[in-house]
Amino acid sequence: MSFPVDVVVMAAGKGTRMKSLRPKVLHRLGGRALAQHVIDCAARLSARSVVVITGHGAEQVEAGLTTPVATGDSAAPKLRFVRQEPQLGTGHAVQQAVPVLADDGVVLILNGDVPLIGQATLETLLQACDGQHLALLSVDTGGDATGYGRIVRALDADRSVHAIVEHKDANEAQRRITEWYSGVMAAPAALLKPLLQGLTNDNSQREYYLTDVVKHAVAQGLVVRAVTTGDEVEVAGVNSPVQLAELERAYQRRLADALMEQGVRLADPARLDVRGELLCGQDVEIDVNCVFEGRVKLGDGVRIGANCVIANAAIDAGAVIHPFTHIDGEKLGVSVGRGALVGPFARLRPGAQLGEEVHIGNFVEVKNSTLAAGAKANHLAYLGDATVGERVNYGAGSITANYDGANKHRTVGGGSTLTKSTPPGALAVARGKQMVLDGWQRPTKKKS
Ligand code: UD1
Ligand code: MG
Repeated sequence: MSFPVDVVVMAAGKGTRMKSLRPKVLHRLGGRALAQHVIDCAARLSARSVVVITGHGAEQVEAGLTTPVATGDSAAPKLRFVRQEPQLGTGHAVQQAVPVLADDGVVLILNGDVPLIGQATLETLLQACDGQHLALLSVDTGGDATGYGRIVRALDADRSVHAIVEHKDANEAQRRITEWYSGVMAAPAALLKPLLQGLTNDNSQREYYLTDVVKHAVAQGLVVRAVTTGDEVEVAGVNSPVQLAELERAYQRRLADALMEQGVRLADPARLDVRGELLCGQDVEIDVNCVFEGRVKLGDGVRIGANCVIANAAIDAGAVIHPFTHIDGEKLGVSVGRGALVGPFARLRPGAQLGEEVHIGNFVEVKNSTLAAGAKANHLAYLGDATVGERVNYGAGSITANYDGANKHRTVGGGSTLTKSTPPGALAVARGKQMVLDGWQRPTKKKS
């Protein structure tokens, strides 16, 4: 784009139908706040800044959203918040942003509760705007448009846009129009600012409608451009838990299709949830009901069994994660080496680092421990803050304890079995004396 883009995200509305204490735009889709999807999309457009209009639950919303990560060569957009109190309509919302919007840019207005708006569509809209025109995104699927603002066009051949009429203000003929306004528009700041000043609230809802800028622009002899999409998922807004769940499934289906497109074999694309980023090598297989969170990397040929929950982990080529395994790397991460076998019913916690061909079996918990190549802990064991060497076989029921009641240590040895009662306040240690048998000979296996 040859002009700077400043994005305005409207997020001051109440979201009454969510029936939640949490502001609507902070509800999560694919593990990310609704408005965060919109902010991240602005970053992919290489926007110069993002201004979020907050009102209901403003403090929570401001604390819950973050600057997007930079994409490509452009810097991350600057994130700012502007308050709108009270909320007097969408036009009034954008008016609040006017003081922080530079005059040399194009303003792209998005909705905080329309999370899946796509980069390609917005690029087409910005091209239509071309740094000089008011351009809006309309939707036409030929179906019912109840509740939406209708796009009223001229009757002549060029069918130019005349106005947007809100459903509540529309007459019978206008209500039959199937083309509706998505809530997304782009206009140069220098054009938009004076148009916003001219808004009034003489309508059925006594609100300052942003959509009225269209009729004011037309009255000034300006041509308003419209880009039309038929993709309802992209423009779908979230107003209720039902709509949120429907959009979540649509989002997951798109992610699943993209993974299968790359060659990932999903047992059932409808039973996969990715709440973050899932990067897969070649010949990855994922069974049903798996959840991936944060950033997860699966190497070539990795197989994930049914009902696994995996967060913030890197699993190297050829490793197999058997069913019902829970892996959560949180901040420290978890790494699973090439050809390792984990589960069923295993739990890997932050800082678990498994080398090549390590085996972790059922009911084994590993936390902040390193297991060198070929080490095994196959049954009912806890490894915490331990360093386990190559090919060590960690027996059933073994525990490494590292907590002395005040401080945590790296585990070097442990294991007391208490057979007598201990008075309050005392420390009991009961370890068999260690015998070290030099030159011990491994017994030979009996041949039958
Ligand atoms: C709006 C459009 C309508 C369009 C529809 C698409 C107007 C007047 N109408 O209607 O043409 O078809 O979106 O979904 O713009 N908000 C604020 N402050 C306010 C009011 C709203 O920040 O004072 C925010 C809301 O949080 C929401 C967005 O603006 O994110 C849209 O508001 P909403 O009340 O949903 O507008 P609609 O009546 O749906
Ligand atoms: Mg709405």
